[in-house]
Amino acid sequence: MQAKIATLTLNPALDKSTEVDRLVAEQKLRCGPLRFDAGGGGINVSKAIQRLGGQQVAVFPAGGHNGKLLCELLEKEGVKTESVSVLGETRENLSVLESSSHAQYRFTLPGLQITENQADECLDIIKKLTPDYLVASGSLPPGLPETYYEKVAAFAKNIGARFVLDTSGEALKAAADEGLFLLKPNLAELSVLAGVEKLEMNEVDDAALKIIKEGMCEVVVVSLGPQGALLVTKSGFEHIPAPMVKKQSTVGAGDSMVAGMVWALNEGKSFREMAQIGVACGTAATMNQGTELFHTEEVWRLLAWIQQYGDRYRLRDFGT
Ligand SMILES: Nc1ncnc2c1ncn2[C@@H]1O[C@H](COP(=O)(O)OP(=O)(O)OP(=O)(O)O)[C@@H](O)[C@H]1O
Ligand SMILES: [Mg+2]
Repeated sequence: MQAKIATLTLNPALDKSTEVDRLVAEQKLRCGPLRFDAGGGGINVSKAIQRLGGQQVAVFPAGGHNGKLLCELLEKEGVKTESVSVLGETRENLSVLESSSHAQYRFTLPGLQITENQADECLDIIKKLTPDYLVASGSLPPGLPETYYEKVAAFAKNIGARFVLDTSGEALKAAADEGLFLLKPNLAELSVLAGVEKLEMNEVDDAALKIIKEGMCEVVVVSLGPQGALLVTKSGFEHIPAPMVKKQSTVGAGDSMVAGMVWALNEGKSFREMAQIGVACGTAATMNQGTELFHTEEVWRLLAWIQQYGDRYRLRDFGT
C-alpha cells in the first residue's frame, strides 16, 4: 500500500464519553449512553484528513481488546489503518459532560508502555508506505525516550517525507533541533522552542523567525486559539484571524488545524491558503461538542469568511 500522507500515533487511546446531570461525590451517578471514539493526536489528524477527502494511512501500536476496537472504529469511518500489535491494553480515556453546567471533565489515563523496537516497527511500516508527508502528533507513551521524535525527524529525511510534528515539551524541542518541515506550536510550545519562559504577542513573529533561522523548520504556524494563527516563513509573516463562532468544545482543535494544513499542502495550495484552511478546520472543530471534530461544510463556510473578511480583522500587534 502507498499513501500520500501517513500519520503516526505512538500513544493512541480509546476515548469513551458520556453525560451526567450533576457530578456529585459519594452518590451513584446515572450516566447517559457510552460513546466510543478512536483517539490520540495522529489518529485525530487521520480522521480529519479523511473527512476532507484526502488519502491517508494511520499507523499506531495497538494492544488487546481496546486496540482491536480502535482499528474497527477507524475502519468504519473509512480511515485506513496499519497497526503494530503490542502486549497489554491500549489506554482508555474518559470524558464526562455535566449537562447542568456544560462543563466537561476529562480523565486521561497513562498510556500503554511500548518498547523502542515496537515504535521502530511503526517506522518500518511507514517506510513501505513511501509517504510525501509524515505527521506525528501527541505525547510519547511510557517506555520511549524523550528523544524519540528526533529519531522520527531523521527517519523522515531519510525516506524523503516532509515531517510535520505537533507535540510539546522536551519531545518537541529534541525533534526540532534535528530539523523538520512544519511546526504548529501554540504559544507555550513556541516559548519552549525559542528557549524563553513566556512570549508576549508582539514577540511571536521574532520567536518564530528565530526558530526558522536556526534550522528547526521551514514553516511555522503559531496557533493563537480564538485569535487564529500567525503564519511565518523566512520571507515574512501573516496573521490569519479566526472567525467568531459559538464555541462548544476546543477538544481536537489543534489536530483539526494540523490536518487541514497537511491536506492543503498535499493539494498543492500556497502556504497562505494552507494556514487559512488550518484556521478554518481548527475553528470548525470548536463548534462541535466533545471529541467530535468538524463538519466539512462548516470548514468551507469559515474559509470563505477568512478569505473575504480576514484582512479587516488582522491583529496589528506583530512586528512592533
Ligand atoms: N475559542 C476559539 N474560537 C475560534 N477558533 C478557535 C478557538 N480555539 C481554537 N480555535 C481554532 O483552533 C486552532 C488551534 O487552536 P489552539 O491554538 O488552541 O491550539 P492548541 O493549543 O494546539 O490546541 P489543542 O488543545 O487542540 O492541542 C486556532 O488556530 C483556531 O483556528
Ligand atoms: Mg496542540
